[in-house]
Amino acid sequence: MSVQTSKAVFLNAYPNGLPELSSFEVKDIDLPEPGEGEMLCRTVWMSVDPYMRGRMNPHVKSYIPPFSLEKPLEGGAVSEVVASNNPAFSAGDYVVDFLGGWKEYYISKGERTQKVDPDLAPLSAYLGVLGMPGMTAWAGVTQILKPKEGETVFVSGAAGAVGSLVCQLSKSKGARVVASAGSAAKCEWLEKEAGVDVALNYKSYKNAGELTKALAEAAPKGVNCYFENVGGMHLEAALNCIALGGRIALCGMIAQYNNQKPEPGPSNLVNLIGRGVMARGFIVSEFMDKAMEFFAEVAPLLAQGKIKFQESVYEGLDAAPEAFLGLFKGENFGKAVIRVGPDRR
Ligand SMILES: NC(=O)c1ccc[n+]([C@@H]2O[C@H](COP(=O)([O-])OP(=O)(O)OC[C@H]3O[C@@H](n4cnc5c(N)ncnc54)[C@H](OP(=O)(O)O)[C@@H]3O)[C@@H](O)[C@H]2O)c1
Repeated sequence: MSVQTSKAVFLNAYPNGLPELSSFEVKDIDLPEPGEGEMLCRTVWMSVDPYMRGRMNPHVKSYIPPFSLEKPLEGGAVSEVVASNNPAFSAGDYVVDFLGGWKEYYISKGERTQKVDPDLAPLSAYLGVLGMPGMTAWAGVTQILKPKEGETVFVSGAAGAVGSLVCQLSKSKGARVVASAGSAAKCEWLEKEAGVDVALNYKSYKNAGELTKALAEAAPKGVNCYFENVGGMHLEAALNCIALGGRIALCGMIAQYNNQKPEPGPSNLVNLIGRGVMARGFIVSEFMDKAMEFFAEVAPLLAQGKIKFQESVYEGLDAAPEAFLGLFKGENFGKAVIRVGPDRR
């Protein structure tokens, strides 16, 4: 099959503050024929992730380069190999990679590309619970926090792609889990489906003091482990309630990704000292050599129905900017994914 053009999403300009729909533009791009070692791929599912906001800022040095305004955006996708000159992949294979997002078709050299087993889980799960966010949750819980039976784990951004697995993995280790999310429906799902002990709707608390009071009531023996996805008042409340010898996995601070000026840090960082707390930032790629361990633990739990996950599904490439903006407005429940093309299996 020959495909000469593809729809693809571009960034019009680097945004200041929260991006808008007008920050994005869908254009047609020309596709060359796949050369030696290359393949033509068709995106079936694409992911939008909070880290992409960091790639829209050209002035901050980061672990990943900023997006170019001249090229289509890129990101995680599950795709079908349409035609292949790469001996490692055949037409009809389903693969996950970090290139296929924000476009319908693309040429890939097969780098950082893995075949997925379409019969093991829904294809979109390879962008969430069995993909990068799942691996992030697993790494933070098993490699950094290491919760022990009976300890209390506090999780912010708990109804999201990363947070919801953090909650359930922590429960599977015998911990008590206190979760925070931004709506009553998300809190109900966390308590009834994901099995957390207490879910707090952070939008009912005006400030860190109020959240601290609620967290202290939900975790009367203190917070032994804090999985940080949000920052701001969540970090301040967690530091107020952190127990002696506590551990903090610093995974993300989504509350400040759209800030136009730097946010002052919490005034209670000193608690880290007196309470002997270990706070460790991490990027999931640091633990990629353990991806098989992650898969061996999480895939069976998923197959046995012991891990639950939610998805917010958007239809069509044109909906990708809206899905992305939804990440910062709490509009998505669980993993936000976009069905770019049909699953033709
Ligand atoms: N370190 C790494 O390698 C790594 C890898 C993946 C993700 N992350 C980080 O992990 C965090 C979660 O990522 P994810 O992929 O699982 O995203 P997600 O939780 O599925 O989506 C983002 C969620 O964050 C919440 N949120 C947005 N703005 C907020 C605010 N101002 N205050 C409180 N909550 C807010 C919203 O839920 P509510 O309705 O609850 O507000 C939203 O649905 C992010 O900080 C991300 O950057 C880090």
